[in-house]
This record gives sequence, structure tokens and C-alpha cells, in this order.
Amino acid sequence: MTHTPNAHALALSRRQTLSLGLGALAIGLGWTAAARAATPKPLVEVWKDPNCGCCKDWMVHLESAGFEVKAHDKGNTAARAAFGMPQALGSCHTAKVQGYVIEGHVPASDIKRLLADKPQALGLSVPGMPVGSPGMDGPAYGGKRDPYRVLLVQKDGSTQVFSSHAGN
Ligand code: CU
Ligand code: CU
Repeated sequence: MTHTPNAHALALSRRQTLSLGLGALAIGLGWTAAARAATPKPLVEVWKDPNCGCCKDWMVHLESAGFEVKAHDKGNTAARAAFGMPQALGSCHTAKVQGYVIEGHVPASDIKRLLADKPQALGLSVPGMPVGSPGMDGPAYGGKRDPYRVLLVQKDGSTQVFSSHAGN
């Protein structure tokens, strides 16, 4: 096999093209990372009991879904009342995100839809603590899921179904 200068030049130029391509890709990835870092994660402030395990699990669920979470470990009864969430729709924790009140084990996907659609409302609630909802779905529950609904709550306390989650 002969090694012609032309073939060598071609190989070089291919290598250069590849390294230029990788360089552009690295710059592109760098930009994406910078853009992602520049976009602040929505902050969810959570009022809860310091010893509530399912509250912590719900917070982990939100964090892994891209929210920033800050806990206020002083219970949620006073916060729920102060924010105007009816006690009848109550659960173990009360949260605030971008002006909306979030009561109970509301899935991150529903909060994201709320923040994207921005309906006129007080916020969302999953009353009680349905098994299978985020934070109520640990190994202790053995994969059991009860069906539950996320309610869109108005400031006058009226509700409508925001989403339904199937059980198993
Ligand atoms: Cu709970
Ligand atoms: Cu909780």
C-alpha cells in the first residue's frame, strides 16, 4: 500500500473537521449548561412538621423534578390558615410557589402545568394523604396506589378537578 501525500492530507483534514466539530459541540453544550444555570429553578417554600417523613419524601420528589425547595419546620396549620387554604382540603404540608398555594402531596407535573398555564386560582390541593401520591409511594407502601385527584382551589374555597391519577 502506498502512502500518498494526498491521502495523508485528506486524513489530516478529516481529523481537523472532527476536532472542529467536537469544539463546536463543546461550545454548544457549554451554552446550554450556562443557559440552564441562568434560569432560576422555581422556589417551593414548604411549611411542615419537622418530623414528617412523607413531607421530606415529597420535597425530594420536587427537587428531582427541578424545583428548589425550602422547608419551614413549624407545622402547617397556621400557614394553611394564613394562605386561605380551606382546612377541609388540608394535608400534612402547605407550600407556596410563585404566589400559588400547594396543599399536600401534589405531583410535580401538576405544579409545572399550574405554573405554565397560570389559571386564576388560590392553588392546588390533594386533600388527605392518598397512598401512591408522590411522597406516599416509598417502599413501605409496597407499590400500592390508590386513585386520587388534584383539585384546583379558588380563593372562595370552591374546587374543580385539575387532574386525576389512577390507582392500581
Ligand atoms: Cu404527607
Ligand atoms: Cu407532608
